Formats: sequence, structure tokens, C-alpha cells
Amino acid sequence: MKYLIDKLTDEVKKAFSDCGLPEELGMVTPSNRPDLCEFQCNGAMAAAKREKKNPYDIALTVSEKLKESKSFSSVETVKPGFLNLRVSDELLTASLSEMNDSDDCGVSMGIPKKKIMIDYGGPNVAKPLHIGHLRSAIIGESIKRMGRFLGHEVTGDIHLGDWGLQMGLIIAELRERNKEFPDSISELEEIYPFASEKSKSDGGFKEKAMEETYKLQHGDEKNLAVWKRILELSVSDLKKNYERLNVDFDLWKGESDADPYIAPMVQKMKDEGFAKMSQGALVIDVSEESDSKEVPPCMLLKSDGASLYTTTDLATLVERQKDYAPDQIIYVVDKRQQLHFTQVFRAAKKTGIVPSGTELDFLGFGTMNGKDGKPFKTREGGVMRLEVLLDDVTGEMYKKMKENEGISLTDEEIRDTAESIALSAIKYGDLSNQASKDYIFDIDKFTSFEGNTGPYILYTMVRIKSILRKYEEQYGSEDSYAFQLKKAQSSAEKALMLTLSAFGGMMISAFKELAPHRICAYIYTLSNEFNRFYHETRILTESDEEKRKGWIALLSFTLKIFSHCIRVLGMKEVDRM
Ligand code: ARG
Repeated sequence: MKYLIDKLTDEVKKAFSDCGLPEELGMVTPSNRPDLCEFQCNGAMAAAKREKKNPYDIALTVSEKLKESKSFSSVETVKPGFLNLRVSDELLTASLSEMNDSDDCGVSMGIPKKKIMIDYGGPNVAKPLHIGHLRSAIIGESIKRMGRFLGHEVTGDIHLGDWGLQMGLIIAELRERNKEFPDSISELEEIYPFASEKSKSDGGFKEKAMEETYKLQHGDEKNLAVWKRILELSVSDLKKNYERLNVDFDLWKGESDADPYIAPMVQKMKDEGFAKMSQGALVIDVSEESDSKEVPPCMLLKSDGASLYTTTDLATLVERQKDYAPDQIIYVVDKRQQLHFTQVFRAAKKTGIVPSGTELDFLGFGTMNGKDGKPFKTREGGVMRLEVLLDDVTGEMYKKMKENEGISLTDEEIRDTAESIALSAIKYGDLSNQASKDYIFDIDKFTSFEGNTGPYILYTMVRIKSILRKYEEQYGSEDSYAFQLKKAQSSAEKALMLTLSAFGGMMISAFKELAPHRICAYIYTLSNEFNRFYHETRILTESDEEKRKGWIALLSFTLKIFSHCIRVLGMKEVDRM
């Protein structure tokens, strides 16, 4: 769909070309001086360089042409050669109405559809889901939802860590305890750290664990049966936790699924001369001439023939190519794994596992830290379980809501609402930062109803919902969603409308940059602008029916845009709070 800014650009391009200048100079951008104008075009400066003329004169000539256009309410030429633009009320209102006419506000229209896979979550089976896995789940889920919103065919794969030494450790420890199978997830959660610790000091035990891992990976039936049980216990616990996070996966595949692809892949790489022996190990050289830092060879098999993390990731690509042949795969993983993925991507392209046109993207995220600036821990200094974190934040929200005496919700409703607001606090606190940066998890700040927080956004939406409810109570239940948008009556209203008009472009570039924080920044601005308009405007007591209806239409539309953003971020909205 053509958004407002595209329409304005078309007009200005035409004016440039009518003046005999290259039309690409007519790019319109949002103004960086909103106090002076709404949009601007800086093309006259570039034109002046090319034509060796004065930029101001060029801007003047172009502006003369633009004065004939109905798209602008004002066109000003400012030294040295800026074009300062204001959009006409008619075009702004018409543009918004056009957006409002389609469910997704026209966003997916005209976007070439891609087949995309997102590799995210990536928990390791048998270890409790802890906050180290929070970021991948939160960011990955929102990338998946953004892609779907734009109309792409997106598949999310959890890529469980279910095939490594941790399995052998548990099996070896069970054998020492004379147990065939683990009984519960809590038993597993006790065994794994115990066995892991033991293997550090007890060489004999470590040996055994490695043996069990080897047997498992080579088809030993007994070990496979234990592994299956561990997987079942773990997966049902993971599902519970991810559900609370409003995160769900299309595929519950794991490293183990790639296993059958390893042997043929390695053979092929040997046959084709890509894989070579180096100091006893089998490696692929992935260095490139332009590397400023050395990229070490990608290791396929250790000297004892065991496969590695890189081997599994390459074999997983073989599998994904066979089953899905995606146009793009996005890995949402801790940024400390950057080098690993550079090696994997290069090896996959070099050996032809994926075609050269397939986009392989690494979206590396930073660490969630505590207030001390170190990785977030429990008060006792341990790793915090995700469940505990969710419970803590929900408890905090519940307390805050209970303190609000005006609240007209039952205790159960308060509990549900608190859970949704807590989720928004955690997710927004995370997603509003650029993914690659570390951030500080600050529960007091994140749960505040004021400032750049999830609860503030939800609160703004609740405010809109409450006005719409009151409108229906007062004026009857006409279909207020069918009301027409009207011209802006104030500068606050126009500012709100301009921000609404930027929704589609924002969504498209946020996905291109894999940057959910852009959506957060957008809804924060939208909230501030809505609240300014709200404080300045008496909506329900307005006596002019047409004006009133126009505002109700604007509120419904604003709410629709908010809802899209909230859903795409993987947050949940609430009706009252
Ligand atoms: N399980 C891994 C970890 O905890 C993350 C997996 C990321 N995805 C992948 N395809 N390697 O570090």
C-alpha cells in the first residue's frame, strides 16, 4: 500500500522532474524539526551540487510547482535550500481512512512473500528454563510475529539442545543410583547439576558419561529409552513455561533430529574436498581474504570422531533445506555465539548446503543484567528460574492493583490482569532495548505505570477502551467502528494522526532491521501523543455530534494500531486495570 509519506514523495518527485531535475531527489522524510514542519525534502542541496546552482533558488522553483498540489497545506523554502512541508488535512485524513479500511492497515499489501525460519528459544533439555533463555524466546517470538504480520510464511523452530553430553551425564548418574528412569522434572533438575558438578572432579565419572553419550548417539536402545523419557518430562515442562510467556513454536525439533544427516553430510564434504584433516580433526577452512580478524576453520569431527555443535548446526541446515528450503533463516541466539554462526554460515554456503541466495541471519542479543551490572541472579546468587521471575513480577503487579481502591474487578480478574501486565513489563523491558545491547532488569522501573514501560502502554490502551465503553453507554451502541475519521481540530490531534500514518513504514523497516525496539519506540511516541490529545480534548461532552463521532473513529483506529503492535511484540492486552 502507498503510505502517506510515499504519496508525498511521489508529488515532490514529480515537481523535481517538472523542473528538469532528477526525480530521485524528491525523497520526503519526516521532519527532524517538528516545531517547524511535518515533513521535509533536502533534494535541492544535492541538485545544486550537480547543476552548480544556488540551492535556495532550486528549492524556490520546486516549491512553486508544489504550490499547485492539493497534498500540502504549506510549502516553505528555508535557507540554504530546505523544503519544509505540511500535509493537507484532506490527504492525511484520506490516507488514514484507507489504512483503517483493511484489517492489517494495508501493511502486508504489495510485499513479496518469503519463506522464513526462525531458530529461537534453544533451551537445553533437562535443565530448568532459566532467565538465560528469556531473551531468545521474547525476541524470537516477536520477530516471528513481525514476519507473519507482513504476510511472510514463517516457521518457528525451538531447536532443543537434546543430544549432547548433558544426556550422558544424567544417564550415568541414574545408573549410579540404580534407577532406570527419572520420575519427574524436579528429579531431573536435581540430577543434572549434581552430575555436572561431579564430572568436574571425578574423571572416572566423566569418562562414563562420555561413554553413555557415545552409546546414545550410536543407537543403544536402553539409552535411547532413557533419553526419550528425559525428553518427554522436559518438553512438557518447557511447554508450560513458554505458554506463560505467550511464546509458541511450530516445530519442536532438536539437535538429535539432525543426527541422521551428519554421516552422509560429512562423507559428501570429504568427497568434494571441502573437509580436510588438520591435527587429527576434520575441518573446513572458512577464512576469507577480506577478514580483518582471523576466522578459524570450522570443526566437523573431533579426533575421536565425535561431532560438535557446528556439525549439528550444519546438519540441521541440510535437514531444513530438504524439508522447507526457506528463503531466509534467522537465528536468535546469545551474541557470544557470533563466531560459531559466522563459521556455520560460511561453511554452509561454501559447501552448497544452502543455495547462495538464501539469507542466513544471526540476531545476537546481549545479556540481561541485575542492578549490579552483572548477569541477573537470584538473591542467593543462583540462576533464576523463569517461573520464579514471572511469579515475582506478577506478584508485584497484583500488589499494585490491589492498592488501587477504585478498581472494580474481582480478585480472580485482578490475578489474570496482573499476569498479563507482568508479561508486558518483562517483555517491553527487554524488547525496548536494541537486542545486541546488554540491559539491566529493573523490576521497579519495568512495572511502573509511568514512563517508557509496558504497563504505561497497556494503561493508555485501557484509557481508550474506557472512553469507547463510556461512549456506548452514553450514546447507545451504534457501530462506532464504522464512524468516519475527520480533519484534525488541533495540533495535538494532527500530531497523533501523523504518527498513526507512519505505522506501516515503521513495521516494514523494523522487520527489515530485525528490530522490535523500533516498534516499542513507536508505541511509546503514540502513547505520549494520544495522552496529549486526550488531555486537551473533551471527547464525550462535545456537543457537535460530527466532531464527537470523528474522535471516536480516531480512538478506535488508534486502538487498532496499538493492538497490532502489542500482538506483534507478543504482549497481551487487558481491558481494565
Ligand atoms: N542450545 C543452545 C544454547 O543454549 C542454543 C541453540 C541456538 N540455536 C542453534 N541453532 N544453535 O546455547
